[in-house]
Amino acid sequence: MTCLRILCMYYLIWTTSANALFSTIGNVYYNMSYNSTSTIITHLIVKKQLLCAAQCANQFANCNTAVFDSSITPQSASILYRWNTTGITVAGASNGSTGTADNLLLNPYGTALGSFDSLYIADFNNNRIQKWLSNASNGTTMAGLSNGTYGRSSVALTLPVSVALDPNDNMYFTDRDNHRVVYWANGASSGTTIAGITGTPGSTNDTLCGPCGIARDSNTGTLYIADTFNHRIMQYLLNASSGTVVAGGNGPGSNNTQLAYPYGFTFDSPSNSLFIANYPNNNIVRWVLGASSWTLVIGSPTGLSGDTSTLLNNPVGITLDPLGNIYVADSGNHRIQFFIAGQSNGTTIAGVTGSSGISQNQLNYPYWVTVDNQLNLYVSDNSNNRVQFFSHS
Ligand SMILES: *[C@@H]1O[C@H](CO)[C@@H](O)[C@H](O)[C@H]1NC(C)=O
Ligand SMILES: *[C@@H]1O[C@H](CO)[C@@H](O)[C@H](O)[C@H]1NC(C)=O
Ligand SMILES: *[C@@H]1O[C@H](CO)[C@@H](O)[C@H](O)[C@H]1NC(C)=O
Ligand SMILES: *[C@@H]1O[C@H](CO)[C@@H](O)[C@H](O)[C@H]1NC(C)=O
Ligand SMILES: *[C@@H]1O[C@H](CO)[C@@H](O)[C@H](O)[C@H]1NC(C)=O
Ligand SMILES: *[C@@H]1O[C@H](CO)[C@@H](O)[C@H](O)[C@H]1NC(C)=O
Ligand SMILES: *[C@@H]1O[C@H](CO)[C@@H](O)[C@H](O)[C@H]1NC(C)=O
Ligand SMILES: *[C@@H]1O[C@H](CO)[C@@H](O)[C@H](O)[C@H]1NC(C)=O
Ligand SMILES: *[C@@H]1O[C@H](CO)[C@@H](O)[C@H](O)[C@H]1NC(C)=O
Repeated sequence: MTCLRILCMYYLIWTTSANALFSTIGNVYYNMSYNSTSTIITHLIVKKQLLCAAQCANQFANCNTAVFDSSITPQSASILYRWNTTGITVAGASNGSTGTADNLLLNPYGTALGSFDSLYIADFNNNRIQKWLSNASNGTTMAGLSNGTYGRSSVALTLPVSVALDPNDNMYFTDRDNHRVVYWANGASSGTTIAGITGTPGSTNDTLCGPCGIARDSNTGTLYIADTFNHRIMQYLLNASSGTVVAGGNGPGSNNTQLAYPYGFTFDSPSNSLFIANYPNNNIVRWVLGASSWTLVIGSPTGLSGDTSTLLNNPVGITLDPLGNIYVADSGNHRIQFFIAGQSNGTTIAGVTGSSGISQNQLNYPYWVTVDNQLNLYVSDNSNNRVQFFSHS
């Protein structure tokens, strides 16, 4: 089957007898062409902001009216991507000030977008999860103690790293130094431990050691947890109290059966695989679920670090957009790198390579990057204690 990824936004795609054809409405940044003479793409009219990732030619469930001929093969894709390199502080203080007041953050880590573009932030050293409404000047504590006190209970956290949301903004987050994952319903005043029940570190199938990244498959409710200090990724099926190792688990290392301190990763449903940032190995690897080893996607196969367009330096967060393009929080290079799907030579789209700082075009150890449905970026600027927004144009 021919598999495509199409970001349905601002498009009209239509067909003529031979070649296709792309759109004319609004901003166009994906231009597909086909050599098939039997192309049947009939008036694929997609509403603005209806985000739909069609991965396979005949699976267009989320698009309104589209008919695809599965013999179509994409011949070329010219893509125009551009982001404003001047950021806007959307959470925390732009001057980097820290504290527990509700307009401040302390070493923000993972971020996630909730309803109405609200931004959920693991406010790591404040031991709480904050929610910032779009354009708000202050955040609200959704989990943990708002005064920043750490603890280990149904209300107190110790160093939460990242949060995943379901469609109702219920939260699943890693509570790193409590070695657990907590489920906290939207608006609830306490949470429930759902993985790492004992709260003590371990490497059995029901314990975790310093979990960091988390992802949730919204189709099945399965959770994927970066069990960072065990150098593995765990899969927990819906409601399960123990998990299975789906990547790594062979000690820290750089061979293709191993991971090393995986902080960030993302679950890619179309390819049924995990894209994992191998922090000290300075690379991004892809691990298909069920496979026993990874394949290299970006960076050095041997762990070499660098600041060129093909190398990374301590990558932490990684995300994909619906087209399969990759965004990496290349923390040690103080930049966000962008890689077009299938390419390992990237470009810097936020931050200045090798130059940490607090001006609006700089970052200081960016740890996480989240992309919204218009490809705007939210970057957790960890050492600047703020979250920066970079608009896509
Ligand atoms: C980029 O963003 C900055 C800050 O919001 C704004 O002043 C500037 O006009 C934007 N530049 C472009 C080209 O949109
Ligand atoms: C930094 O920003 C915060 C929040 O806007 C403000 O309260 C504080 O006075 C600023 N500090 C300095 C030194 O400007
Ligand atoms: C935001 O938080 C600051 C610091 O706590 C407070 O002074 C200010 O009144 C708050 N603003 C709003 C709109 O709640
Ligand atoms: C936030 O501000 C931007 C720019 O002023 C505006 O376009 C947007 O609609 C605002 N969002 C909300 C939810 O108010
Ligand atoms: C923080 O809040 C909790 C819960 O209200 C309280 O028990 C604790 O004493 C507070 N800690 C500080 C330092 O204020
Ligand atoms: C998972 O647990 C929830 C809450 O207890 C329950 O409503 C749901 O039916 C369970 N789902 C499965 C598949 O066990
Ligand atoms: C976890 O390990 C225990 C003991 O080895 C085993 O009985 C159980 O089936 C395992 N659970 C999963 C989900 O693999
Ligand atoms: C990778 O490392 C593991 C753990 O040290 C080892 O058992 C395995 O043989 C290594 N594999 C390769 C291909 O080197
Ligand atoms: C990466 O892309 C840049 C810009 O197009 C180009 O100059 C450079 O040669 C490429 N590097 C590699 C290793 O392909």
